[in-house]
Amino acid sequence: MSLRITVLCENSVGSLSGTLGEHGFAALVEPAGEEPLLFDTGQGATLLHNARRMNKDLATVRKVAISHGHYDHAGGLLPLLQQCGPKTVYAHPDIFAPRYRVKDNGESVSIGMPHDRAALEAAGARFDLSPEFREIAPGMFLTGGVPRSTSFEIGDQGLYRDCGGKQLDNTPDDQSLVLATGKGLVIVLGCCHAGLVNTLDHIASVTGRRDVHAIIGGTHLGFCGQEQLEKTVTFIKTLGVRKLAASHCTGFSAAARMSSELQKEFQVAMVGYTLEV
Ligand SMILES: [Fe+2]
Ligand SMILES: [Fe+2]
Repeated sequence: MSLRITVLCENSVGSLSGTLGEHGFAALVEPAGEEPLLFDTGQGATLLHNARRMNKDLATVRKVAISHGHYDHAGGLLPLLQQCGPKTVYAHPDIFAPRYRVKDNGESVSIGMPHDRAALEAAGARFDLSPEFREIAPGMFLTGGVPRSTSFEIGDQGLYRDCGGKQLDNTPDDQSLVLATGKGLVIVLGCCHAGLVNTLDHIASVTGRRDVHAIIGGTHLGFCGQEQLEKTVTFIKTLGVRKLAASHCTGFSAAARMSSELQKEFQVAMVGYTLEV
């Protein structure tokens, strides 16, 4: 399979005039000869605008996958349905759980899905939910929930299921998209709360494949410790990934580190970034 991936929502914009940035992520996957798939929807402020600017007609996209139930990936779903018609929405059943970021001073902010299931269904969402690895279209797979196996990927410690900060949330619904292309696997990440090494280990265990051609999306390394960053960089170098197009929750410092270690492979995937495989 050959395909094109276009970043429609991201924290930063590239050189394409008239596009807008927001904290979030969305990418349009267009496989040659197959139906397109929208992976994530951003917060909702830029998806439709940026898609229009890039001549991407989201009314013709019938399938959407949501990486996890955070506002910056799922917030664009309702405006998308309202403006572009009904969609089948693939996700993990835990996307509707309550979510909070609780700061050290006790302040909390809700970061879950901004619209509930009933409102989304009334607007035309047909949810297809599963926690398992599965093929959602020819050559397109969702990882399902990712087992947390490594000792160093402890994840983001500021996330909770309650606003009081008592029940930690390790975002079990976090999943990535796996695309089987002629050059190897292309992995599209939402936030990768599960950890990049855990995610790639899980993909290897269910597919038997470690031939990863490209990784694109949010790595969440900007919210994790130095040990996780160092070990992740070492792992990616060992794997021999040809392209690492990081964005969103990767953060400047982790991006700079990866850029210096993977000079040929590293790129920043801003709004308008396109990967053709
Ligand atoms: Fe995110
Ligand atoms: Fe997230």
